[in-house]
Amino acid sequence: MSKTAKLKAYIRTYGCQMNERDSEVIAGLLVQHGCEMVDDGERADIYILNTCSVREHAEDRVRGKVNLLSLKKGSGGKPLIALCGCMAQAHGGRLLRALPGLDVVCGTHRIPYLPAMIEESLETGAKVVDVSDDHPHQAPLRRGIRKSRVKAWVSIMRGCDNFCSYCIVPYVRGREVSRRPGDIVHEVEGLAGRGYREITLLGQNVNSYRGGASEDGDLCDFVRLLKMVNGITGLSRIRFVTSHPKDVSGGLPGAISRMEKVCEHIHLPVQSGSNTVLRRMNRNYTGERYAEIVEKLREEVPGIAVTTDIIAGFPGETAREFDDTVSLMEEILFDGAYIFKYSERPHTAAAGMEDTVPMGLKKERLRKLIDLQMGISRKKNRALIGRSVEVLAEGESPKDPSMLIGRTRGNRVAVFPGESADAGRIVSLMVEDANATTLYCRKAERKRRITNDQ
Ligand code: 5AD
Ligand code: SF4
Repeated sequence: MSKTAKLKAYIRTYGCQMNERDSEVIAGLLVQHGCEMVDDGERADIYILNTCSVREHAEDRVRGKVNLLSLKKGSGGKPLIALCGCMAQAHGGRLLRALPGLDVVCGTHRIPYLPAMIEESLETGAKVVDVSDDHPHQAPLRRGIRKSRVKAWVSIMRGCDNFCSYCIVPYVRGREVSRRPGDIVHEVEGLAGRGYREITLLGQNVNSYRGGASEDGDLCDFVRLLKMVNGITGLSRIRFVTSHPKDVSGGLPGAISRMEKVCEHIHLPVQSGSNTVLRRMNRNYTGERYAEIVEKLREEVPGIAVTTDIIAGFPGETAREFDDTVSLMEEILFDGAYIFKYSERPHTAAAGMEDTVPMGLKKERLRKLIDLQMGISRKKNRALIGRSVEVLAEGESPKDPSMLIGRTRGNRVAVFPGESADAGRIVSLMVEDANATTLYCRKAERKRRITNDQ
């Protein structure tokens, strides 16, 4: 009988969807080792933090949480605290000195070994660290325990080769490795067979996907993979994140418009509207090129929702460079944007750049961009009032359990009245009210042609 048998484990996930997916895989591994997963951290014998390093703030939150948990540790040493993911990879064993309450530190490539590391720590009472990158972890091969029964994440590749100058990801997740297309199709077929309606193909840069050779010997590119997945019966919707503008192929807009399951939404991080900043960021495109890509997408996929990521206050960002970002946002009119204050990360090229932007100014610029986008999002969402949208019902709304929550094809959040038994259904709704983040809907009275929501 293993040391972890019957122990209660809880996973707290920070960061992106890759981490959410990894947490599902970790939960699967722990259950295989006899653990019981609980959804209340207070009851856990084993508390796992699956961490993010992309910004300092994410790391600070984890440090705060570990300190709090350490204070709560009883005389039996419970809960055991394990830290895994990007922060483990970035800082390794040094974390044990900074956070003495930690018991296990497990790097991004070693996730399959996490249960064994936890067992070792429980058995010997010793601290266990493994952040080597010897055997790149192929977690997606394992099914894991999926959080939702309606939509699923499917990892198609790991790592990133782009080395954007601000970004720590290539250092903590390693080089790009694409999964074989046959394995991905097999996983999606299994999900469709088990009743999942929507899948999201995951990768740091899905457009540079190059999977194992197909019958004619070519490497399978992303558009070809989309076509294979689109052919799977039982599935209703396909999404994908994240796209890099430099790798969006000429064939992608046509593919989105032709393939009926592929949702009319692209998350296409622009990061900045200034060509000089984009050069310093090592992004390999200009603002003009970005606008061209969006124009082509909007031409070929009418109503496509375009969302983005933007960094405010990159090292040396001048007032003019900042204004170029404002202009680009006013020109493109994104359907949504995640806007971040630049955060210096270890190992990265930007950490060595002279930063003349004081913190106060970074905050001010962040605020300005958020306000600008809130106004745009609100206007775009409110333009949908009185129109019908197609929504995949996901389950109860966390804010109001008497309501259901779901997303439109354009990835907008919709809240509407319904029974929890409706989860997993595609429903036609009428938008009654909207703000910058949510559409408030009711069931459409009669079936009518549903337009793209966007
Ligand atoms: N500082 C601020 N934002 C960052 N991102 C990545 N690295 C940093 C950093 N050092 C943002 C980018 C990316 C998103 C996932 O996080 O906008 O697209
Ligand atoms: Fe980071 Fe750039 Fe890779 Fe995205 S594409 S993970 S921003 S290095």
